[in-house]
Amino acid sequence: MATRSPWPRPLSLPCCCLLLLALGGPGFFQSHAVEVNVKDLSNNTCIYAEWMMSFLIKYETNSSEYKNATLKPSTNVTHDGSTCGNNTHAPLLAIQFGAGHSWSINFTKTNETYQGNIISFTYNTNDAVFKDAKTKGPITIVVKDPMHPVQLNTVYKCHHLDSIEVANVSLFFWNVTLQAFVQNGTVSKNDSTCEADKSTVAPTTVANLTTAPITTASSPLPTTTSKPVEKPLIGNYSLKDGDKICLLATMGLQLNVSQEKPVLININPKTTNVTGSCGNTSAILRLNDSNKRFIDFTFAVKNTSANTQRFYLKEVNITLISSINGSEPLNAGNNNLSIWDTFLGSSYMCQKEQTVLVTEDLQIHTFDLRIQPFKVQDNKYSKAEDCSPDVDNFIVPITVGAALGGLVALVLVAYFVSHKKHRNAGYQQF
Ligand SMILES: *[C@@H]1O[C@H](CO)[C@@H](O)[C@H](O)[C@H]1NC(C)=O
Ligand SMILES: *[C@@H]1O[C@H](CO)[C@@H](O)[C@H](O)[C@H]1NC(C)=O
Ligand SMILES: *[C@@H]1O[C@H](CO)[C@@H](O)[C@H](O)[C@H]1NC(C)=O
Ligand SMILES: *[C@@H]1O[C@H](CO)[C@@H](O)[C@H](O)[C@H]1NC(C)=O
Ligand SMILES: *[C@@H]1O[C@H](CO)[C@@H](O)[C@H](O)[C@H]1NC(C)=O
Ligand SMILES: *[C@@H]1O[C@H](CO)[C@@H](O)[C@H](O)[C@H]1NC(C)=O
Ligand SMILES: *[C@@H]1O[C@H](CO)[C@@H](O)[C@H](O)[C@H]1NC(C)=O
Ligand SMILES: *[C@@H]1O[C@H](CO)[C@@H](O)[C@H](O)[C@H]1NC(C)=O
Ligand SMILES: *[C@@H]1O[C@H](CO)[C@@H](O)[C@H](O)[C@H]1NC(C)=O
Ligand SMILES: *[C@@H]1O[C@H](CO)[C@@H](O)[C@H](O)[C@H]1NC(C)=O
Ligand SMILES: *[C@@H]1O[C@H](CO)[C@@H](O)[C@H](O)[C@H]1NC(C)=O
Repeated sequence: MATRSPWPRPLSLPCCCLLLLALGGPGFFQSHAVEVNVKDLSNNTCIYAEWMMSFLIKYETNSSEYKNATLKPSTNVTHDGSTCGNNTHAPLLAIQFGAGHSWSINFTKTNETYQGNIISFTYNTNDAVFKDAKTKGPITIVVKDPMHPVQLNTVYKCHHLDSIEVANVSLFFWNVTLQAFVQNGTVSKNDSTCEADKSTVAPTTVANLTTAPITTASSPLPTTTSKPVEKPLIGNYSLKDGDKICLLATMGLQLNVSQEKPVLININPKTTNVTGSCGNTSAILRLNDSNKRFIDFTFAVKNTSANTQRFYLKEVNITLISSINGSEPLNAGNNNLSIWDTFLGSSYMCQKEQTVLVTEDLQIHTFDLRIQPFKVQDNKYSKAEDCSPDVDNFIVPITVGAALGGLVALVLVAYFVSHKKHRNAGYQQF
């Protein structure tokens, strides 16, 4: 694919360039990439790394709310404390940035491979980005690096976004070029490409030979916006409490994200995980797709005057880590919603496309929606309240089953309509 830029090529730089960079100061940055060249006492490179990184940190505010802050090493990055290691100490790549933040990783090796070992990250809530933080000061998290072993004397390259979540912090890495245990001070000319890059790059070169639907659905970055986006696939999602289903959701989801310009992103249910929690008065459905997009729906129960209880969608939170066009990770929410209002004990259904306004710049489009966040009985939906009561009642049960998309629904509707007179009792609501 022509739009996918080749890797940064530090290897083709003559050695003196690397040296110049190293001399340019304790740390370097090119746009937002961090580049560090760790040298031993004889000025031989032992660790070379260039990568992009950002952090999403949840913190408690002085009004006891939780907020997210993003940190990104960009300017004034130093690499004090980085060391090539010796017989007793592992090589360490350490950087410091911003107002008292630091990050480090050490490396281990075997006879054939090397890999990252322990990652340590310290953020300082005295930084202005945490200005309303309840507690001020440095907080350190330590986590094992999930990176797979890489063959010694090769350069690990991974364009793909990778993330680590620990405590209240998500660390994101992408565009990584790395070699630890560099031999004889010369960064290797051989690459080890990460699996994720192989699997996303490969299909494009053999596009004519592969069947399109799966690869397009899982394509990580929508690089073009002019093409009309198809309707998203409809997914069935459920949560369990013990062995009983306590929340049911069926929907196709499309995000409309406006950063520079609007981009439509379809959520592929086949690669989306479901987590969340059920409760008597509040329930959360969290969808986590393979491209690191998190969509949280929070449902709540409200009492009405007439002693009847209803539920509604109260809050939506979206976190997009997979950056669109290299932009910042995005986190947006709306906790002041009051839609999909339905009698407790029923399910809410809306076949037609609906738009949930999350922020000015972020909308969710739902398709063929059916949802029951409370009081699910016998693992199936209860009676539905339809968003458009004027819709022929008849369509209601059909569309639930016809989750394969509009075409199937149309065919079925046409079929049933044409057989309506003969088969009026031939279906059952579930
Ligand atoms: C290594 O490089 C530094 C900075 O360029 C220089 O001051 C030092 O003398 C060099 N050391 C050796 C052993 O070449
Ligand atoms: C949504 O985001 C806000 C602000 O980041 C946070 O306070 C809230 O707990 C989040 N809600 C859910 C359900 O994750
Ligand atoms: C090994 O490195 C550590 C930390 O850089 C240093 O404290 C220690 O003295 C070194 N040991 C030897 C034997 O050089
Ligand atoms: C919370 O912190 C902000 C920023 O320092 C300050 O303006 C605000 O008054 C504080 N609120 C409370 C309740 O302390
Ligand atoms: C992380 O968040 C939890 C609440 O989600 C909070 O109780 C805890 O204190 C936070 N930890 C840190 C280190 O901020
Ligand atoms: C490093 O130098 C040693 C001795 O000169 C040589 O045997 C070895 O092959 C070199 N390694 C690499 C990766 O160039
Ligand atoms: C996406 O959002 C933008 C900005 O809110 C809006 O102008 C545009 O019409 C939306 N696109 C779709 C397909 O809803
Ligand atoms: C992506 O970036 C390119 C170059 O900066 C720009 O022309 C294009 O409009 C951007 N696309 C989106 C969806 O923001
Ligand atoms: C709703 O009504 C129930 C039963 O009357 C009561 O226990 C509950 O506290 C009420 N909830 C709210 C949010 O008013
Ligand atoms: C990764 O690096 C390439 C080459 O330096 C650059 O063109 C691209 O924009 C970077 N990707 C991201 C997501 O920043
Ligand atoms: C979702 O569940 C319904 C009811 O069990 C079923 O008819 C439909 O085929 C399912 N759809 C998908 C995409 O699995």
